[in-house]
Amino acid sequence: MSDLTTRGSDNSGDQPLPEKPHGILARPEYEGPGALTVADVEHRPRRSDLDPKAARRVERQITLMFLLSMVMVVLFVIAYVSLNSTQTVYIPVLGLIGAQNLALGVTFGAAIFFIGAGAIQWAKKLMPDVEVVQDRHRLASTPDQDAAAAAQYERGKEESGFAAYRILRRTLIGALALFPIPLVVLVRDMWTNTDPALEGLSPAEILSETAWTEGLPIVVDGTYQPIRPEDIPVGGLVSALPENILEIQKEFHNLNERGKSAIILVRMDPGEIRSQQGDGWDYQGILAFSKICTHVGCPIALYEHRTHHLLCPCHQSTFDLADSGNVIFGPAARRMPQLPIGVNEEGFLIARSDFQEPVGPSFWERG
Ligand code: FES
Repeated sequence: MSDLTTRGSDNSGDQPLPEKPHGILARPEYEGPGALTVADVEHRPRRSDLDPKAARRVERQITLMFLLSMVMVVLFVIAYVSLNSTQTVYIPVLGLIGAQNLALGVTFGAAIFFIGAGAIQWAKKLMPDVEVVQDRHRLASTPDQDAAAAAQYERGKEESGFAAYRILRRTLIGALALFPIPLVVLVRDMWTNTDPALEGLSPAEILSETAWTEGLPIVVDGTYQPIRPEDIPVGGLVSALPENILEIQKEFHNLNERGKSAIILVRMDPGEIRSQQGDGWDYQGILAFSKICTHVGCPIALYEHRTHHLLCPCHQSTFDLADSGNVIFGPAARRMPQLPIGVNEEGFLIARSDFQEPVGPSFWERG
């Protein structure tokens, strides 16, 4: 039990506020070589140490933060249920963003923020404000020290007010209890499709069809300029998209096709290509592969041109682009899909068809 006296009462009006010790509680007794010293610093008590009204104000602020965290979790679930995953909003500087993703990110981030901010305020304004010096002795504890540590723990629990601040304790427990709900809600996405346009299609079917069609020009991601073969030097890599990707985005108000159709173009000496996914799918040593990792879908553009290895930064899956994009290392279970390419009459690079196998993560294979 603490030997501290108590004062005041909590929000409910019948609970005493814990006494909050402040100042310097201990000084080192060891004065030999290497002894720690503590300068005599004037200790300034906080307002909440001296004024019970200030302490109550802080308590109310912290309670509000924990309550706001709970509200954010509820808004997260509402946003998940009510917003269509295909809707987009335009944010200046950032561009087109999925409305549901934006709402989920903001509400989940705010839920974490309010729990963290409330906990920090509690520690800074209401928990004991003392300087403590601890001597360092041998590491193993004696039974007496164990008992002292247990007693200290009990005392700390009491002094921190975890037992006394009933409303803070309950709202914190409430906020922490609701906190995992967004994670559970998101698990639903692992087996259900929320886009009505894709109703009834299996994941493999959805991932098998992209925006690429025969003769569609390939453009640079970002500038949307068509590419000539001579624009890509041997050893170079270009991130690219189908020419009509912006119209598709406008028409369907989503970024799904952009994600599925993203490719990288790499150029190597044709003599170094050991195999491809189809005969003559390159154009003069320029090969096109999906940009989306077949493990869990990270975009990849880390290319080591001397070995022709493509490395995924997420879990280090490595694909050999000179050998059909096969996996040579890491957790990916499937090769990187290749896109057959050629040039049109104007000399620009084009797709010769869509991908011949699903792009992106391979979770559907296990179903
Ligand atoms: S997403 Fe590429 S290795 Fe995991």
